[in-house]
Amino acid sequence: MAEVVLRDLVKTYAGATVRATDEVSLEVADGEFMVLLGPSGCGKTTLLRMVAGLELPDSGQIVIGDQDVTYLEPRRRNLSMVFQSYAVFPNKNVAENIGFGLRVRGTPAAEVRRKVEWAADLLQLSPYLDRYPAKLSGGQRQRVAVARAIVMDADVLLMDEPLSNLDALLRLSFRAELKKLVGELGTTTLYVTHDQVEALSLGDRVAVMREGRIAQCDAPTAVYDDPANEFVGGFLGSPPMNFLTGTVERDGSKLDLGGQSLAVPHALSTFAGRTLKLGVRPEAIEVAGGDGALQGELQVLEPLGSSALLTTEICGQPVKVQAPPTFRAEPGGSLSLRIPPEACRWYDPETSLLLEVR
Ligand SMILES: Nc1ncnc2c1ncn2[C@@H]1O[C@H](COP(=O)(O)OP(=O)(O)OP(=O)(O)O)[C@@H](O)[C@H]1O
Ligand SMILES: [Mg+2]
Repeated sequence: MAEVVLRDLVKTYAGATVRATDEVSLEVADGEFMVLLGPSGCGKTTLLRMVAGLELPDSGQIVIGDQDVTYLEPRRRNLSMVFQSYAVFPNKNVAENIGFGLRVRGTPAAEVRRKVEWAADLLQLSPYLDRYPAKLSGGQRQRVAVARAIVMDADVLLMDEPLSNLDALLRLSFRAELKKLVGELGTTTLYVTHDQVEALSLGDRVAVMREGRIAQCDAPTAVYDDPANEFVGGFLGSPPMNFLTGTVERDGSKLDLGGQSLAVPHALSTFAGRTLKLGVRPEAIEVAGGDGALQGELQVLEPLGSSALLTTEICGQPVKVQAPPTFRAEPGGSLSLRIPPEACRWYDPETSLLLEVR
């Protein structure tokens, strides 16, 4: 096992005008499960391929354990990979597929058999060892690819969207299996996904990427509860965080949203006379009257089974509210909405950065 340290990794593909990764630095602790999350094209696969040695950075450094591997050949990095396409060999059965890497490495047959059986047992593939991939389901094939990677006893496990080809239900069950498995293995893992639920569920920490950079790297609850910038708040969550823009009144105590106002923490009174953005999650807003409640106009109500999603407007600004599943009201009507002070996150509109007020 080993820690992985990335320092200022820059990669520009030939002919490209923008950097695929732009001075990315990241430290993954020994045994940690690190998820790289971000929209398509933000540089996740590029970063993983540089760690694997399949791409060379223009500049920067990659250290695994105590070895600088930046320019080391892939096979000498002692890592194993599972890729999006999870290519399994169609002309080899499950056991041969899982043991392939070990045999190439010259591992004795008895040892290969022992490891294949161990991995097959962990991934519930034991009944299928003699089957060929054509007769496996997508989920089983994907498990074969994972099994093949874990038998290698690598220091580092790299996975690029290994669940991407599964349907929603399979994804859900395999996600839990994978979490259990990786917890048991304790191998340092870098896991790429653009699925935020998967990222939050699996990661010890989540590095949220945007345009070749890391926008925030922290524990799942931290990136969700305290997005470091508007991008992270607007990327995580379904629906994502709401942002309301207002002007802080002269005495610094309230944010005027355009006719209605909301209390501002004392620490932000320095913003008096300036604009400020309020970030609040849809599930944190309560449909309730009382002190400080704002009036919103209900535009759409969507019953979603476990909740009701309300599309509303406060002072002409769109706000999504996640209400209890039994909530009913007629669109076009007015709603009292309460935004609890502890659910408010404040952002500087000039920098998009979270303002520390607690
Ligand atoms: N081989 C390549 N040659 C040129 N440009 C590339 C190459 N591979 C990736 N890129 C570009 O580099 C940027 C990052 O791509 P990358 O594949 O790392 O993104 P990603 O985050 O993995 O996206 P996705 O979620 O779609 O897989 C993109 O702008 C992409 O177009
Ligand atoms: Mg990718």
